[in-house]
This record gives sequence, structure tokens and C-alpha cells, in this order.
Amino acid sequence: MKVNNVSLTISAVSAKQYPATGYPEIAFVGRSNVGKSSLINRLIDRKSMARTSSVPGKTQTLNFYDIEDQLYFVDVPGYGFAKVSKAARAKFAAMIEEYLSTRQQLHGAVLLVDARHLPSADDVSMYQYLKYFNIDVLVIGTKVDKTSKARRQTIMRDIKKTLDLNQTDQLIMFSAETGEGKDAVWAWLDAQANI
Ligand code: GTP
Ligand code: MG
Repeated sequence: MKVNNVSLTISAVSAKQYPATGYPEIAFVGRSNVGKSSLINRLIDRKSMARTSSVPGKTQTLNFYDIEDQLYFVDVPGYGFAKVSKAARAKFAAMIEEYLSTRQQLHGAVLLVDARHLPSADDVSMYQYLKYFNIDVLVIGTKVDKTSKARRQTIMRDIKKTLDLNQTDQLIMFSAETGEGKDAVWAWLDAQANI
């Protein structure tokens, strides 16, 4: 999709705040600091539409970005950040669960994992959770600019194996730094949102 118009519709913390427009939605999930907000910015060619930070825990609400009045990208708070208090973690988990388990117009989830490491136990749990709710998943191995090209096939194989990735779910290697993988991600998004 060619994107010219993007706006942040709402930063929601509960279901009653979700937009009522009915556009298809794609959720971006993954560990804190993995690069969810950076991926969104790269997809829409904006440097800082979604706020990013080198400090984990930047995104703390469900941020609904209206893409061309056709779909929403939903930037989701990251999980697995040890410095967040137990109470705050429980609050984020409940917020994410409420969204992923009830949202009718959710057309798929993009699960980001760090290409430099094996998926964490939290990543595996999140993938299983998404599959439990029958949500289509695109797995993205991100920050691939920080890995060597020679290791690419091994990394992809290890990610698939660790997540026990379904045949029907795709894995794409991506870099928000270089833009590698962007067209492939858009192809998945277009198909998923029927646009
Ligand atoms: P939370 O909102 O805290 O959950 O984090 P997030 O997943 O939204 O991560 P964010 O996009 O804020 O990026 C975290 C850090 O990783 C920032 O310093 C980014 O510049 C960096 N980063 C993100 N993607 C890439 C990438 O593809 N390559 C490199 N080299 N750095 C990246
Ligand atoms: Mg973020």
C-alpha cells in the first residue's frame, strides 16, 4: 500500500476506547525493545510517528494508527521487561489479553523476535497464545542488520524450530535500519487486510 496519511487515532488502555470505525486491524507484538515501534515507522516511512526508545518499556498503551482510513496498526506494549513492577506487568498483560482475545476486526498479528538471539520463553508463549485464539501470525526476525548474512539460513531455521512455527505462518527477516524486508512485510499486510 502507498501510505501518505497516517494519524494516531487513540492511545487506549481499555476496550471501550478502541476505535469504532471497523477497519481491519493488525497488532504488533513482541518483547520490550525488540523494535515494534521502529517497524511501524519504517513501514509508513515516518521517522518518529510511533515513539521509539533505546530504553525498554516505551510503549505503554495500545496505540491505534489509522493508515489511509483503511486499516489500523496497533502498537502494543512489549513484554518481558524485568524492570517493570509486578503490578505494572499484570496491568499490561491484562490490557494485551483483553485486546487480542476479544477484538473481532483483528486480521492478524506481527510477532517480532530479535534475529540475534533464539526466541525467548515469552516469545514462545506469545506465539502459542496467538495460535490458541486462531490469529494469523507473521513472525519477523528483526535487527537483522546486526547479524551476518552467512548466518541467515541458520537463524531462520532456529527461529522456526524454537517457535514450532506452523506451516501456514510466514517468517520474514527485517531491519528498520536498512529497510530490508519491508516490501515482503507489506505484501503480507495487504493480503491479510484484504486491501
Ligand atoms: P517498547 O515500546 O519498549 O516495547 O519497544 P519497541 O519494541 O517498540 O522498540 P523500539 O522500536 O522503541 O526500538 C528499540 C530500540 O531498538 C531503539 O533504540 C531502536 O532504534 C532499535 N532498533 C529497532 N529496530 C532496529 C533494527 O532493525 N536495527 C537496529 N540496528 N536497531 C533497531
Ligand atoms: Mg514501542
